[in-house]
Order: sequence, then structure tokens, then C-alpha cells
Amino acid sequence: MDKFVIKGGRRLKGEVTISGAKNAVVAVIPAVILSDEPCVIENVPDISDVSISLRILYEMGAKVENLGGGTYRIDATMIKDPIVPYELARHMRASYYFLGTLLGKFRRARVAMPGGCNLGDRPIDQHLKAFSALGADCRRDNGMIDISADMLIGSQIYFDTVTVGATINAILAAVRATGLTIIENAAKEPHIVDLANFLNSMGADIMGAGTDVIKIRGVRSLRGTQYAIIPDQIEAGTYMVAAAATRGDVLVKNVIPKHLESITQKLMKIGVNVEEFDDSVRITVDGPLVKTSIKTQPHPGFPTDMQPQISTLLCLAEGTSIVTEDIFNNRFRYVDELRRMGADISVEGRVAVIEGVGKLYGAPVTAPDLRAGAALVIAGLAASGVTEIDDIYHIERGYENIVEKLRALGADIEKRSVPGPAQRKAV
Ligand code: EPZ
Repeated sequence: MDKFVIKGGRRLKGEVTISGAKNAVVAVIPAVILSDEPCVIENVPDISDVSISLRILYEMGAKVENLGGGTYRIDATMIKDPIVPYELARHMRASYYFLGTLLGKFRRARVAMPGGCNLGDRPIDQHLKAFSALGADCRRDNGMIDISADMLIGSQIYFDTVTVGATINAILAAVRATGLTIIENAAKEPHIVDLANFLNSMGADIMGAGTDVIKIRGVRSLRGTQYAIIPDQIEAGTYMVAAAATRGDVLVKNVIPKHLESITQKLMKIGVNVEEFDDSVRITVDGPLVKTSIKTQPHPGFPTDMQPQISTLLCLAEGTSIVTEDIFNNRFRYVDELRRMGADISVEGRVAVIEGVGKLYGAPVTAPDLRAGAALVIAGLAASGVTEIDDIYHIERGYENIVEKLRALGADIEKRSVPGPAQRKAV
């Protein structure tokens, strides 16, 4: 298995350019199926979730051309069978977006149940509620979700909880339904707006994305388009925190500052300097880092996907910080790993109490999930000594060229291949 080896204690300095947003592109790629013509997608990050999404389209019969520089031309018009290969779908939670897009195009979809994730319960009841509201029959059989509808009729959908995935799936299923769909209590994340903009550029009629009420007038067909994915707000936030944790001086480029507002506000409260420009932010730290309280919320609140990273920073702040994870019920699995590095954190349910410590120390740790893995990278960069991170495949799901980007900022980080158990025998 591969690992990252980080020699910490170096200040990050220089510039880093943010890639396309993972949580936007994993919705836009399946959405291409809704088009009656080929589409060109730009600013696609080179991450494993994208590779799996593109592979699913290819296995289903689409033509996928890599035009280079993060641009792909996808022609999904040859897809006839609305079934997603089990082996591929089960590796990626976002494969459930193929449910909404295949139902929207073919009135039928058969996709593997999304894997349970390391963040706690990940039900899909609200997704199925949306599909049923539009007239679909939803069944589960031997690990697959099977949905079908004679017709999809526009409807009123009210989500019992704010959910990004179900909001996206409802949009995908409704965009070619007959009549008006109104989604209430919708999620407002930037990647939902990006998907709506992508679909509207194909001739869809979606209004209100980014607010909690989204109205969709179904259309009969969607044309091809050329579309660029927005920058990744969580990748940007991760580098902002890494710069602060190493007391560096970093210009984070290709960002939309408005998408970073809640992250910027919290960093400034902790004592980090954040200088905003049109499409970049500069991070420096002069004085001490100080404690604060954080509560994760749906957008525009503080994003749950930044909770492990900011908690790591608070380990280095003076005083006692309180972090409340209000979105997922098990998103503190990284705390045991940080403790190995000298962190002083206690967790009770959804609340972590973080006692600031002067410094962290390098240690061998294991990434439990994507954002927790990113937090361990930040901890390794700030720690004195060497940190080895296992299971880095989690991290490579969502961070394009993370080793190259960090090395360009002066970090001492390398990726090492370690022979697996089987290979070890061969050696
Ligand atoms: C998306 O997951 C993101 N994944 C997650 O990012 C992100 O953490 C999450 O939204 C919240 O922002 C992608 O976009 C691929 P939810 P999703 O549905 O859609 C409950 C990352 O690190 N819920 O908004 O699965 C659910 O249990 C990943 O990039 C239901 O109860 O999240 C959770 O408590 C991790 N019923 C809350 O809603 C449902 O049917 C929010 O989940 C659906 C969700």
C-alpha cells in the first residue's frame, strides 16, 4: 500500500492553484447522460472519484475522450442500458447520482447501494422520497437500488433534512420530467449551483439553485454544452489551513472568495490573516493562534468537510476549543490518530473538546477517510519529526497532485510505495 512520508516543521511559502471541485464534478459527469448531444467539461480534477465516474460512463457505452489539461469530451448518447456496473459503483458513494440521471433520461435506473461511509449513518431515504414524489417506484434487491417510472411528473418535494446528495438527485430526475417541480428545504452548496448552471447551459429550466427553494420546469430535451467546473472550496480551505498551521505565507489561487466566507471568518477568529483578492486569498500568521468554537452547518455555515482540518489547527491554538459536528454522527475518527501525534482532544458524541498544545510530533498514522486524511497531512506538515500516513488512497480521492502542490510550497513530503502483504512474499 502507498504511504505519504512527511518531514514536518517547514513553513509553507509560495503559491498554490486550486483544482476543479470534486463534489461538483461527481454530479456533472453523470449529468451528461441527460444530454442528447456530446458535452465538453473543463477544469476536471485528476482524482480517483473522477476516474471512477468516467469509467462508469465508459463501461455503460459512452465515448469518453481526454482532450488534455483537465478537459474531457463525453458522448453518452449511445448509452441504452440504465444499469451501473456493481463492481465500480460500490467503490464510490457519489455513484448514486447515476440513479437520478438515469431515471431522468430513461425512466429506469439500477445502481448498487452506496457504500456506508466512515462518517457514520449515510441513509438515502430522502433520495428515494424525491424519486417517489416524481412518480417512480423504488425497490432494493440484493445490494442494488432499482427505480422505474412510466412517467415522471413534476411535484412538490420537501426534504426532512438538508441533504446535498438528495437535492442533486432530485434536480437530475426532475430536469426532464413533465411539469413543474418545487424542491423545498434544498441544500445550497456551491456545487449545487454549479450543477444547475451546467444543466441550464444545456437548455434546462432551473431557478433558485443556491437557495432553499429550487424550481424546475421539465424540458423535453437537452443539448450539448461546453462547461468549466468551479474551483474546489474544500481543497482551497485545506491549503488555507495548512498555510496557517505551518505559520507560512501562501497565496491560494483560482478560488471564489465568496465560497470561502465561513472558512475565512473562522480562520480570522483564530488569529490567521486572510487577505482577499478577486480570485485568490493570501494566508499569513503573525501572532498566536487562539481558541474558538466551531459548529458544522449546511452551506453557508461552516462546512463539515473542513471540520477535521480546522480541528487540527485548533490543536495548535492557545486555550480550549469546542468543535461540534452537526452533520454526520461519526466524523471524529481521525482524533485517535492526532492523539498519537500529541494532540489533546476528548470526544463526546458529536462534540470534540480540544486543549491547545504547543506542538505536535511526527508519528505513523492511518487515514480513516478523505478529509481526515487531509487533516493528518496538515498535522504532519506542522509537526516536528517524521509522519508516515497509510491508506492515502482516501486522500487521493479528492486532492489532485497533493504531493506536487505541497512540495512546490516547500513541504518535505513524498509518496512511497510499500509492497502489500502478497508482494512482500514475492520480494
Ligand atoms: C455530500 O455528501 C458530500 N459528498 C460530502 O462530502 C459532504 O460532507 C456532504 O455532502 C455534506 O456537505 C459529495 O458531494 C459526493 P448529505 P452527501 O446528503 O450528499 C443525512 C467529502 O469529503 N441524510 O448532505 O452524502 C446524512 O446522514 C464528502 O467530499 C439523510 O438523513 O451528504 C447526513 O447526516 C464527505 N437522508 C446529512 O443528511 C438522506 O437521504 C447530510 O448528508 C440523505 C442524507
